[in-house]
Amino acid sequence: MWVRAQPAFLLPFQVGFDYNGISMIPYLSNGFQPQRQEDKAMARIIVNTARSKGTINRNIYGHFAEHLGRCIYGGLYAGENSDIPNVNGMRADVVQALKNIAIPVLRWPGGCFADTYHWMDGIGPKQERKTIVNTHWGGVTEDNSFGTHEFMELCRQLGCDAYISGNVGSGTVQELSDWIEYCNMGGISPMSALRRKNGQDEPWNIPYWGLGNEAWGCGGNMRAQYYADECRKFATYMRSYAPGQKMVRIACGANTADYHWTKTVVENARDQIDAISLHYYTVPGTWEDKNAATEFTSGDYYQTLARTLFMDELIENHSRIIRQYARGKKIGLVVDEWGTWFKVEPGTNPGFLYQQNTMRDALVASLNLNIFNNHCDSVIMANIAQTVNVLQSMILTEGARMVLTPTYHVFEMYKGHQDAQQLECYAQTAMIGEGGESVPQLHASASRAADGSILVTIANTSLTDDCPIQCFIDVPQTAKATARVLCGDAHAHNTFDAPDTVAPAALEVLLENGELRAALPPCSVAAFTIR
Ligand code: AHR
Repeated sequence: MWVRAQPAFLLPFQVGFDYNGISMIPYLSNGFQPQRQEDKAMARIIVNTARSKGTINRNIYGHFAEHLGRCIYGGLYAGENSDIPNVNGMRADVVQALKNIAIPVLRWPGGCFADTYHWMDGIGPKQERKTIVNTHWGGVTEDNSFGTHEFMELCRQLGCDAYISGNVGSGTVQELSDWIEYCNMGGISPMSALRRKNGQDEPWNIPYWGLGNEAWGCGGNMRAQYYADECRKFATYMRSYAPGQKMVRIACGANTADYHWTKTVVENARDQIDAISLHYYTVPGTWEDKNAATEFTSGDYYQTLARTLFMDELIENHSRIIRQYARGKKIGLVVDEWGTWFKVEPGTNPGFLYQQNTMRDALVASLNLNIFNNHCDSVIMANIAQTVNVLQSMILTEGARMVLTPTYHVFEMYKGHQDAQQLECYAQTAMIGEGGESVPQLHASASRAADGSILVTIANTSLTDDCPIQCFIDVPQTAKATARVLCGDAHAHNTFDAPDTVAPAALEVLLENGELRAALPPCSVAAFTIR
């Protein structure tokens, strides 16, 4: 049964979040207030259309594809001579699916692979390309049939921007500088001549370039100060090749909460960089004994979500440090690896990091994307790891077959946030959990698109309880709302034989006098569009 909110409670939120003289604003971005006992039946979401942190950069919905397992080979790229339907070697089904979620940017070629990758091995006639060993990922042979030209063809088909992760760990300054010249030089030069010889006349104008990957680990095991000096040196030779050509130099950032790394790199290399990265994976259990993707307890589930929410604190803290040490220069935060990391599926190569994807992953995606939206004033890009067949994938493939994961559906439901104006959003909700892990039952973000429509995305994290909600939002009397929901048992997932077990469905919603009402099923992600 629907219960109307008392006007005394409603009013403060309609007049600028001033409740008995106490501003509610600090709670909007950072925290959740415990719910009063008598309010338990109905949770409240307040969307403050008068306050925004700015535009949600579409690149927050970015992806990452590494030469790892079956991400590139078999996942994105079938090869020109494959029986699998393809366009210039790219799988037609996978490309179409990724276009449907409006993939804005793709990071490549790694990951750890990036700091072993020598780009010249991957250009020129395929039969002459060098065969190498992928030392990080399964020790498999890499024939370099997918190189720079193929990557740019993939981005062309996807209609997305390219983000290339340069080799700082085992490459040279000259090599990275040449790669940029090869890709971005429009005039006459040794590298542009080589590109033309290989069939590409026009420069690609690639805007995003990474200065190594995980330099504190697989990218060279460097200490922060040493990396900062390397970063300065490499970045010096990363040039724009035309007036106004976009060149975003992204320094390798911290692992999780290594704040010393962020401070040292920004303090020492701020003049040479435009952004710095952050890697944080959701790993339930221990690193040695991770959860399986599809078999887990309810305690594991809540631990997974609680660990995901740590992303909020990480972004807060790293952003503050960046602001402090950038001394007025705008340096963006790029969360270029995030997602769940579980045990590999039984019987698969441990070096391939192939895992299934359930409603638990959908909740992880929802929480992270809400967090990124709500930090759109500092997060300029995020790249889920990884696009196909690796870790928290959008898509799984098996031969010619393809299946969309619950995570894919969350990205599809959230795509309206891309380039929209973030709106402050506050969930008054209970804290729930099990086994000492506690998470808010509701987690939300909201935005207004250029056409005026408002998208509110809300996760109900409870495994057992549905959640009737009232969402207060200042919209015209004539506004109409529609809603979709993704829900199911937390273990529910799609397989090649049952590809539609988890798929979005219509959700009943009422909108009256700026009050939107709906009931969110347990373990669900809902998207409300108001226009
Ligand atoms: O995404 C898998 C790996 O995780 C990446 O190669 C590396 O950067 C990180 O440790």
